[in-house]
Amino acid sequence: MARETHPSVWVVVPAAGRGVRAGSGVPKQYRLLLGRPVIEHTLRTLATHPQVRGVAVVLAADDDRWPGWDMLEGKPVLAVTGGAERADSVLAGLNALPQDLEDDAFVLVHDAARPCVSHRDIDALLDAASPRGAVLAVPLADTLKRADDDNLVRDTVPRDGLWRALTPQMFQRAALMRALRDARDAGVVVTDESMAMERAGIAPVLVAGSADNLKITTPRDFALAEFLLRAANKDSA
Ligand code: C5P
Repeated sequence: MARETHPSVWVVVPAAGRGVRAGSGVPKQYRLLLGRPVIEHTLRTLATHPQVRGVAVVLAADDDRWPGWDMLEGKPVLAVTGGAERADSVLAGLNALPQDLEDDAFVLVHDAARPCVSHRDIDALLDAASPRGAVLAVPLADTLKRADDDNLVRDTVPRDGLWRALTPQMFQRAALMRALRDARDAGVVVTDESMAMERAGIAPVLVAGSADNLKITTPRDFALAEFLLRAANKDSA
């Protein structure tokens, strides 16, 4: 459900990873869920959101599985080549966005490997649009243990105030590009966009999202993602 106050956004989708932890020879973004590649679920959900203007997909240099879409669900799809780290791929995607996109335009970054993202989560993120940026996240539910090298519990980490960061994450285009470049130039590998912004002294807001928006990482995640997609399809039917 789009709200008139929501900004319209481009989405950068890094999909240039190898996905080795997911098993099989096929990169995880091309494994099938309910008969369609993971990346297709992700892109269609993004492209059908009314506030999404278009999508920049970032692919591995040797990707020979990309179907070559330049439009999906009536929205433009730009395909570009990524880099060695996720942050390099995100920067490549940001670079590929239309030249006339304003510096302060909001962009979303969303992992190809998160096909269960919902429009409701995207709405919640867009509701939080501000110059400090916003990150979908889930408060930690489990008790956290820090282990030593032998997997013996060293201590219990208080979970107060701890969240798991998900994607999409939303920032203004120029500020995010600057923060990612600065991190790269300093030799810091950032594992999400928020981390780059935090280095720049910004405190993005955490937006409570659904834990269903899992990142497919290990073989068991495929069955769980299929279950969640089937349930979501039933809800929207
Ligand atoms: O490896 P991980 O699961 O953290 O990757 C998150 C997302 O970033 C995936 O969609 C993956 O394809 C993408 N990625 C990328 N370029 C890399 C590494 C990962 O686009 N060099």
